[in-house]
Amino acid sequence: MTPDLISIRDLSNAAIENLFELAAEFAATPKRRLSLATDAVLTTLFYEPSTRTRMSFEAAMLRLGGQVISMADPGASSAAKGETLADTVRIVESYADIIALRHPREGAAKVAADFADVPVINGGDGAREHPTQTLLDLYTIFQEKGRLAGVTVALCGDLKHGRTVHSLAQGLARFGARVVCIAPPGLELPAGLQAMLATQHGLECIHADSLESLLLAECDVLYVTRIQKERFADPLEFDRVRSSYMVSRDTLTRAREDAIVLHPLPRVDELDFSLDGDPRAAYFRQAAYGVPVRMALIAALLGLKKVDDLHPAADTVTPAPDFHCDNPRCITNAERGIPAATASFSDGALRCAYCEAVQEEVVV
Ligand code: NCD
Repeated sequence: MTPDLISIRDLSNAAIENLFELAAEFAATPKRRLSLATDAVLTTLFYEPSTRTRMSFEAAMLRLGGQVISMADPGASSAAKGETLADTVRIVESYADIIALRHPREGAAKVAADFADVPVINGGDGAREHPTQTLLDLYTIFQEKGRLAGVTVALCGDLKHGRTVHSLAQGLARFGARVVCIAPPGLELPAGLQAMLATQHGLECIHADSLESLLLAECDVLYVTRIQKERFADPLEFDRVRSSYMVSRDTLTRAREDAIVLHPLPRVDELDFSLDGDPRAAYFRQAAYGVPVRMALIAALLGLKKVDDLHPAADTVTPAPDFHCDNPRCITNAERGIPAATASFSDGALRCAYCEAVQEEVVV
């Protein structure tokens, strides 16, 4: 079995710390081409738009000395003819040694990992998770603030659909950070995730009604996110919330001198351009860290650098031929040929093994 990165849960804290040490080593010699991965090919399979994630994966592999083949436009691939993801990865694994995947369907990364015999990295699966963004977010906080434990991070924006915050909240909880949530009504962090943070990591999220009422002076990090327009079934619903918050120079007058503002980018309406000249605006530095962090991850997953403990305790997955996932955004509801399976975590709830949605009506 090859190591994969599907969820941030696939990495123990020790493995994350190891990756950060490795990333710092790589960052010390930026823009140098190493001879570490000279025999390896990375493929980026991107079924959704991307600038930073795909290009930093590709830059990372090239900097390691490896080669890259890319599918950046599903419209120009056999996906447009109806090929399933499972079939595509079974083909691509014979062309490449490692796959970075982005897909609009929840659970897609797990499907790819199950069907491919090479490591699969989740570059974002629908609204579910984005674990490599979390690695670089945590790395940025660590670099800028010198620690993760005890740091107060305000997560602001579309916390319901934002896959970056779904992974990041777990990472922050595991390293002992405090989390404050600010979301427009209806776009709060999913209740199941909040319950998991509380029961598994003892993190009770604090909630602020608005940016204006947020006690910014108590925050070390303001992590702003875009409203995820593409996840809204109803465009009117998107229009209702689209301009609900904007971080500007004015907002920062209430923030500490040593606070930082992060954003996974792209920004649309939520982060004013006037902020860019402020040294606390750390989002471009954050994006740049994507290269050394992804270099470390690729090197580790290919076994070119030793990172202990890449796989902590696995969740329990059980084949369940008659199971049907009730999450309409799950890949199992869009593509055939995926063996139905359920998963159970320590909270005991029954979930789909792919999208991990808790099942409302259990029909097994
Ligand atoms: C994020 C994503 O794709 O989830 N972008 C990224 O990977 N840097 C955030 C977003 O699109 O809003």
